Amino acid sequence: ALINIVEPAGHSVALDVPDGWSIMQAATAGGVDGILGECGGSCACATCHCYVDERLMAELPPAQDNELGMLEHVVAERRPNSRLACQIKGSAALAGATITLPECQE
Ligand code: FES
Repeated sequence: ALINIVEPAGHSVALDVPDGWSIMQAATAGGVDGILGECGGSCACATCHCYVDERLMAELPPAQDNELGMLEHVVAERRPNSRLACQIKGSAALAGATITLPECQE
């Protein structure tokens, strides 16, 4: 599904997230600025922190315990709509969503 990503510098880029890929995988493969994904997506680094828009926040399954645990370690401000991009998988529900990246990841 096609989503919008707002990079830390404020540029909005369109990104296709194939089904079965995570937003982190699609963003790092696509050269998006402001996301690292250092652990490769195993929910162990918190360098894929992102802010999810309101509609998607309501539609996503709630964060599991391991994601909530890693969200304790994000470097940028944690907000109610903070999620880890490696835990959000491509699906039709993502279409048109806007994901904003924090100013820093480490
Ligand atoms: Fe490491 Fe998401 S890529 S927690």
